[in-house]
Amino acid sequence: MDPLTRLELIWPGKRSNHSAAFPRLTADASRSYHSPHSEHRTASYDNHLIFGENLLALQSLKEQYEERFTCIYIDPPYNTGQVFDQYDDGLDHGSWLSFMKERLHLFHQLLKEDGTLWISIDDDESHYLKVVCDEIFGRHNFVSNIVWIKKSSPSNDARWISDTHDHILVYAKDKTLWRPNKLPRTQEQNKIYKHSDEYDGVDAQGVFYGRGPWFPGDMTVKTISESALYPITTPSGRKVRPAAGRAWVYTEERFRELVADHRITFGKSGNNKPCIKRFLTEIEEKGVVPRSVWHYSEVGENRNARQEVKKLNATNPFATPKPEKLIKRILEIATKEGDYVLDAFAGSGTTGAVAHKMRRNWVMIERGEHCHTHIWTRMKKVIDGEDNGGITKEVAWSGGGGFSYHVVKETN
Ligand SMILES: C[S@@+](CC[C@H](N)C(=O)[O-])C[C@H]1O[C@@H](n2cnc3c(N)ncnc32)[C@H](O)[C@@H]1O
Repeated sequence: MDPLTRLELIWPGKRSNHSAAFPRLTADASRSYHSPHSEHRTASYDNHLIFGENLLALQSLKEQYEERFTCIYIDPPYNTGQVFDQYDDGLDHGSWLSFMKERLHLFHQLLKEDGTLWISIDDDESHYLKVVCDEIFGRHNFVSNIVWIKKSSPSNDARWISDTHDHILVYAKDKTLWRPNKLPRTQEQNKIYKHSDEYDGVDAQGVFYGRGPWFPGDMTVKTISESALYPITTPSGRKVRPAAGRAWVYTEERFRELVADHRITFGKSGNNKPCIKRFLTEIEEKGVVPRSVWHYSEVGENRNARQEVKKLNATNPFATPKPEKLIKRILEIATKEGDYVLDAFAGSGTTGAVAHKMRRNWVMIERGEHCHTHIWTRMKKVIDGEDNGGITKEVAWSGGGGFSYHVVKETN
C-alpha cells in the first residue's frame, strides 16, 4: 500500500466483501438499437446498455474491457436519505461506504493507464468518499475536487445554509501519465481581445490580413535580473523602468525585435509603459487550462437538467439528472473521439447521450426499470436524430450509430 494512505478509514462492515458473485451477461438483440439510416451506419462504434446491478455488470465487463475506459463518470445516489420517483437514496453511512468501495475497486481495474474517474457527490458523503478513493487510487493520484455551482437561486427554505454546489472528485489511475485536454476559449474570455492594429486590413479580394485583435499584457516579472532593468524610452520621449521589485520579461535585444515586429504597445498616446500585444489568433488554438470551479453559466445548472429530461419524458421526468453541458465539459477534458466512457449509475442516460453525440464509445449500467422507460427511449431519440435538446446543436449532432442491450444477472 502507498505509504501516504496508511491512515485508513475504518467503519463497521468495511472488511465484509460481497463481490464474490458469478455474473451472467446476456445480450438481447431484440432490445438493441441501431440507426436505420444507412448513411449513419458507416462509422464504427461499440456502445452497450446493461440492465441490472452494477457490481455484477462491472465484474462481467472485466473480461473484455479491463483497462479499456479512458473516462469513468459516476453520479451515484448521494445517500441523502431521500426517496425519489425512480430510486431510493438512503443507506446507513457504513453500508454506503462499503457499497462505494467495492465498486471503486472495479472502476480502478477497468480504467486505462492514462484514464480518469470523475465522481459527482455532495456534502453528505463527499469527504468520507474522498478518503475511500485515496485508499483505492492512492492519494498521489487525486487530481482535483471540482466545485460545480449547480443553482442560480438560493433555497430560501434551507434551515441552515442553502446548498449551492456539488463536488466532482477527480482521480487519475496514474497521475504521472494523465494530462487534461485544454478547453476551447469562450466568447466571454475572448471579449477582452478588442484592440486592433493599423497593420490589419482587407485586400482587394476582401480577404482579411494581419494578426487581428489583441489584449495588452504585462511586460514585467517578479524575478529580478540586472540585465532586464534597462530604461525604455516611450514614443512620447518619456524614460520608463519596471516598477520596484520587478524586471522586464525580455532582454533589451529581444525587446527591440518585438518593437520592430509591431508587437509592443505604448497606448494610444505613446506615453504609457510598454505592454506586449497578446494576439487572440496566436493563443486561441492553445485553449484554456481547466479550472476547479465550474459555474452554471458555463456548464448548466440542475434546473437546466430537469428541463432537458422533461423534454424527453414529459409524463415521468427523471428526478435527479445532470445537465448535458456538465458531462460535455468532463468528456472534453478527459477524452477524445473514439475513446471509451463508462457510467455505472446511468439514471436517465445523460452520460451515454452526451458521449454518443460527442462520438465516444460508451457503456451504461442501470438497475432501475427506467433503464427502459428513460434511457432506452432517450438513446433511440439521440440515434434517430430526434433529440434536439442538450448539447445537440453545439456539437452538430444529427443522428446515427447504435447500441447493444444486455441483461446482467447473478448465477449460482
Ligand atoms: C443520481 S442517479 C444518476 C443520474 C444520472 N447522472 C443522470 O444524469 O440521469 C443514480 C442512479 O444510479 C442507479 N443505481 C443505484 N445503485 C445502483 C446499482 N447498484 N446498480 C445499478 N444502478 C444503480 C439508480 O437507480 C439511479 O438511477
